[in-house]
Parts: sequence; C-alpha cells; structure tokens
Amino acid sequence: PILPVILSGGSGTRLWPLSREAYPKQFLPLVGENTMLQATWARVSDIAGTAPIVVANQEHRFMAAEQLRECGVSPAALILEPVGRNTAPAIAIAALQAMAAGDDALLLVLPSDHVVRDDSAFHAAVREASVAAQDGKLVTFGIVPTAPEIGYGYIKAASGTGVRAVERFVEKPDLATAQDYLASGAYFWNSGMFLFKASRYLDELRRLQPAMLAACEQALAQATRDADFIRLDADAFSASPNDSIDYAVMEKTADAAVVPLDAGWSDVGSWSALWEVSDKDANGNAHHGDVIEIDCHNTYAHGSRLIAMVGLEDIVVVETDDAVMVGHRDRIQEVKQVVNRIKRDG
Ligand code: GDD
Ligand code: MG
Repeated sequence: PILPVILSGGSGTRLWPLSREAYPKQFLPLVGENTMLQATWARVSDIAGTAPIVVANQEHRFMAAEQLRECGVSPAALILEPVGRNTAPAIAIAALQAMAAGDDALLLVLPSDHVVRDDSAFHAAVREASVAAQDGKLVTFGIVPTAPEIGYGYIKAASGTGVRAVERFVEKPDLATAQDYLASGAYFWNSGMFLFKASRYLDELRRLQPAMLAACEQALAQATRDADFIRLDADAFSASPNDSIDYAVMEKTADAAVVPLDAGWSDVGSWSALWEVSDKDANGNAHHGDVIEIDCHNTYAHGSRLIAMVGLEDIVVVETDDAVMVGHRDRIQEVKQVVNRIKRDG
C-alpha cells in the first residue's frame, strides 16, 4: 500500500510578501481554490492506500489540522517538529512512525508546495515506481529540465526507458555546472518527490547518517501524543543534524532510481514560476484578485485590494495588508534579499 508523507515544514521566502514565516506558501491558495497542502492530498487520495502522515512545524499545527479537515481527511498522524531540521529528519520521523504502526509501507514523499497539472500522468509514474520501490530502490521522479536552475537537484540516469538506475545525483550545482548538465541532455531535475519502503530509507540512514537516525528515534520515542498531534521531543529532535534528503541520502546511496515524469510539474518556487503555471489572458497576463490592466504584457498581479496597471511588461505586483512588492519577472527570485534585509533591520 502507498502511504503519502506530506512535508509541510518549509517557509517559502521567495513568495514574500504573501508567504510569511507565520503563513508559508503551502497553506495558501496560490493556484485554484485549494491551498497547496490541500491540493497535495487531493492529488494522491485516489492512489493512496491509507490516510497521509503529515509532518509540519508546531507553529502551524492548527492551520495544518484545519486545512486537512476541510478537505475531508483525517491524517494517519500529524507530527509536529519543534524546530526545522530539513527534510531528511522529517522523512525519518514519518518512516519510524509507519514502522511503529506495524506498516513497512511504500512511502510516497510529497512536498506540500508543488503544482502537478496532469494527475493521471503522475499516477502512472507512481505505479511504475512502485515495482522498483518494492524491490528496495529509492525512487525519485525526474523532470526534463528547461533552464539551468541552480535551486534543483540534477540526476544522471542510466540509459533505457521506464525506471532507470541513477548514475549520479547532484544537489543544487553551481550555474556553470547546471548549464553543462542542461546542454548534455543527459540529466533530469529531481522533482523532490520520492517513493521507497520505510524500512529501506531507515536502513540507508543507519548506514549514512547514524546520528540523525538516533536523534529521530529518540524524538519519536519521547514524543507527547494527544488526540490530534504527535509532538516530537524538543531536546532530542534539536540534536539531529540539519540536512535535506538530497544531500544526506540521495547523493550517496547506491540504490537510487528515477522515473521520468511529464505531468506539468512545477515547484512554484518563485513569483515567476507561479506566473508560468497560472492561466493567462491573450497578452500573457495572469491575475489573482481584483485587477484592472491597460495595455500590459506578461504581468502577474496578486492582491486583495484593487490593483491597476498601465503599460507594464514583465512586471510582478503583489499586494498584502502590510506590504506591496513590485519587481521585474526576470529578477523576482531576489525578493529573498528583501526578506533578509527585513530580518536584519527588523
Ligand atoms: N516537515 C518539514 N520539516 N518539511 C520541510 C522542512 C522541515 O524542516 N524543510 C523543508 N520542508 C518541506 C518544504 O515545505 C517543501 O515542501 C519540501 O519539504 C522541500 O523543501 P524545500 O526547502 O522546498 O527544498 P528545495 O526546493 O530547496 O529542494 C528540493 O526540491 C527541489 C524541487 O522542488 C530538493 O529535493 C531538490 O533536489 C529538488 O530539485
Ligand atoms: Mg522547494
């Protein structure tokens, strides 16, 4: 059976000013009516054998619980992290919880902030991956790259079709390397979604990251449990090394495999990525909210008050109660620097 593990602990600073530490992007309805978290569950509810395990920061517990209730799912476990230790420990906790519940399930690890346009193509890829995962592989879903993105993992697959062995996994290469990989035509992007048996992931951690596994085991063993939440022990979990599954496991394991995925995937990592996946008018403008636009091209606007735009091209405007951000689409990743400046200057 497939057990979805939904990772909901990130902070999404590149979508400032909408996405905030207190209200990160996975809890926002950025595309369509559902929040990104709700859309993540909706995407897999048909192929899931059980309710999901959701791992989130404790600050967001009510938002996460409420949003899951709204879409009619009662999670197998809603696990709360006292601090973020990145994805490798979060997934370890989910795997340990599955094993403790007596279920060495196939974990389908899902970031809670991605868009997938073609559900049935995604389901087909998961089915293909299941066979290899059951066989002990750590399977990832590979996207054909379209730009030398430096925020992604790159995967060199063995030749062939269907599920292929991973020859090389490189997380977040520098720009020159990313350009080489793109030009070679031999690399996929790592989608950040994974499928593997719970026991298999834990075995790899025991070998590659023993201190992390020990900290996670202790944090779960000493967790406080009530009707709604599993609260990890703060001291034990804080002691875990902070690392992503990509660096901690996928770059190092000999048993990685990749299934190509062509399903309109986007990680909506920035306002320009959001523009790309949004429905647009004939002039390429995408609007979310009340917008009047005169002679604009390829703009993105998002707000709750009226936004009026005249004669703009490639401009992003995002309006919230306490901040307005205006920027060029090509440089909109740099909004990260705005967030850093605010953090520094208070
Ligand atoms: N529970 C929990 N705890 N979730 C977390 C934590 C944490 O400490 N840190 C991150 N997450 C969640 C985020 O909310 C997101 O849904 C997912 O895990 C992935 O984390 P990101 O921080 O968004 O990773 P990334 O985008 O830099 O890189 C990953 O995704 C890329 C594709 O979008 C990697 O897997 C790359 O290789 C990949 O290309
Ligand atoms: Mg991401």
